[in-house]
Amino acid sequence: MLDLQDDLTDIIDLSIRLKKDSKKGKSIQMLKGKTLGMIFEKPSTRTRVSFEVGMTLLGGHAIYLNTNDIQLGRGESIEDTALVLSRYVDMIMYRAKKAEAVHELAQYATVPVINGLDNREHPCQIVTDLMTVQEHKGHLKGQQFVYIGDGNNNMAHSYLLGCGIAGMDIRIVTPKAYQPDSFFVDAVKKMGVAVEVTNQMSQATRGADVVATDTWVSMGDEAEKAKRILEFKGFTIDEKVMGQAKPDAVFLHCLPAYYGYEVTKEVAHGPQSVIFDEAENRLWAQIGIMVTLAGSCSRS
Ligand code: CP
Ligand code: NVA
Repeated sequence: MLDLQDDLTDIIDLSIRLKKDSKKGKSIQMLKGKTLGMIFEKPSTRTRVSFEVGMTLLGGHAIYLNTNDIQLGRGESIEDTALVLSRYVDMIMYRAKKAEAVHELAQYATVPVINGLDNREHPCQIVTDLMTVQEHKGHLKGQQFVYIGDGNNNMAHSYLLGCGIAGMDIRIVTPKAYQPDSFFVDAVKKMGVAVEVTNQMSQATRGADVVATDTWVSMGDEAEKAKRILEFKGFTIDEKVMGQAKPDAVFLHCLPAYYGYEVTKEVAHGPQSVIFDEAENRLWAQIGIMVTLAGSCSRS
């Protein structure tokens, strides 16, 4: 998120414009002949399909590279993988188990590297979510954002930075043992927005324009599933919790969702939910990100 902070507003505006153009039937084939390499160390539905379809709409091509099938998965170095792929493809998307791996790939690649989720951050999803809020609310600055759930995961961390960059106050409501990493809280405090981290669910959504959550058991946390379900008891977003937000508040979830845990199906499929617009917008936001990166490549 910090790497794209100067471009966030432009990327969102571009993504909304290209979405409108494409839906009107205008061609958006701006990356003809370009190739995206997509490395996946973890499963994915949305990220994989939206990047691949996005590249198709842009007139380019995407290659799915699962680490079980490429030499990286059996010990080839990240450095050599980056140097080799850079000779073939125009940009690389990487979904990694460890943030350090994404940074290492970016260090050695000579083409742009997009973080498709790691254990610390999920920036493409946050660009998407802010785009979705902008579409529904008209603007971002000054909106009150509330995130309830695992405060120490990739979504919470990237929401903190994304809200700070966009000028939105943010409240993280999470059990004491799941507080965000202080790096993210300290960074967003310097951005001039109000940040609150609390474990109090009573009035968690008061004043909220946006209410968001994520799974209590992220990829890689599976061994702690039973413990987490006990520790997150009471942090479910149900109609009562949603009803305490502003009447026109929207509900976000990056998906996949686990109904009855972080959110009830009544809320997730209810009138305030925009989760399927949000899922669709992965496509448009990543189109905006890829076009922006291709532009900055040709300028350099
Ligand atoms: N939201 C998201 O990143 O979904 P996938 O894991 O299906 O890509
Ligand atoms: N926090 C979740 C997000 C899934 C898109 C995970 O990392 O599994």
